[in-house]
Amino acid sequence: MKAASEVLSARETAFLVRQRVARLATADARGRPHNIPVCFASAPGAIYIALDEKPKDVPVTRLKRLRNILDNPSVALVADRYAEDWSLLAFVMVRGNAELLEPDADEHGAAVRLLRGKYHQYEEMRIEENPVISIRREKAASWGALDAPEITPQPLLDAVRGRRSVRAYLPLDVPEEVVDRVLEAARWAPSPHGRQPWRFAVIRKEDTKTRLADAMGGEWRNNLEMDGQDLEVVEKRLEGSRRRLLDAPVLVLLCLYLEDLDAYPDAGRQRIETTMAVQSLGAAAQNALLAAYDSGLDAGWMCAPLFCPERVTEALGLDPTLVPHALLTLGYAAGDPPRRRSRIPLEDLIIYQDL
Ligand SMILES: Cc1cc2nc3c(=O)[nH]c(=O)nc-3n(C[C@H](O)[C@H](O)[C@H](O)COP(=O)(O)O)c2cc1C
Repeated sequence: MKAASEVLSARETAFLVRQRVARLATADARGRPHNIPVCFASAPGAIYIALDEKPKDVPVTRLKRLRNILDNPSVALVADRYAEDWSLLAFVMVRGNAELLEPDADEHGAAVRLLRGKYHQYEEMRIEENPVISIRREKAASWGALDAPEITPQPLLDAVRGRRSVRAYLPLDVPEEVVDRVLEAARWAPSPHGRQPWRFAVIRKEDTKTRLADAMGGEWRNNLEMDGQDLEVVEKRLEGSRRRLLDAPVLVLLCLYLEDLDAYPDAGRQRIETTMAVQSLGAAAQNALLAAYDSGLDAGWMCAPLFCPERVTEALGLDPTLVPHALLTLGYAAGDPPRRRSRIPLEDLIIYQDL
């Protein structure tokens, strides 16, 4: 599955995007090798590596890997998985030409955003002040069980911080057992009175996705036009959203199911009961997103069904007791997501502390 213009196949890309560390091999002008572990981010055309040394300690251009690249831009990067079960071993090696992107280059900003999106640690480091190594991929080789789910359990907080919203996927199937693992995690979400007021619809078929996209797109078009948006902008946004639905290998629709909740004689308490159900649906969604990330999958959240629940119910032929709330897209990321993910500092979020 490798288009003529692509150096990496979709499987190789998916494997590479999932890895947190790789080894970068450079050689000096006389061919003497140098090989170090690196953090990296992957974009469709290039691989980026930050230089996290403080500019004042050593001029970064004194670093051996950089001197080598300046003398000899030909490099190799390998990302691998080791496991005692050797049926799970795999690696992807990329060869190409490396160059240094200086801080004033346009691509430098995009590379820093990608790297910070993948590694939260970079948010605290002034990597924007240093050049970034960019590797233009020219050749790739791979071996082993690239598709095996990641087996090393990662600490929970690493998974929480590593998860990110993905909006573009590779055309790769997601095994059924991995989707089951994601839904199993959702099943264990906390819920009011333990009633689990949510149900899941799993959508894989092209024609079902198309029906859903048509139904939701129609409603959105009406809303955007009502807002007086420029027609060209409306078309572009609709097409983007449609592509997101059609290109995601799996969609999971989360529906609210209120039938088993407590019934109150007054509207106020009934509303609170419903709010609790919505809160619980959010918890189920987050469990699903984390389980997806932990299984080597990527995921995104789309709120579109909230704006047109009846249309979704009709398009999928759902029971009217189900209220469509959120769509999770599941698949393998086409690259590290370009959007910057920053967070409000914790001290600004804690508004009261009884110390
Ligand atoms: C209730 C809810 C609705 C969301 N709806 C959308 C959506 O419709 N489209 C989208 O691209 N992202 C949506 N997101 C994802 C957020 O944009 C994303 O979580 C946020 O930008 C932080 O990025 P991160 O998930 O990569 O950390 C939604 C998230 C939540 C919690």
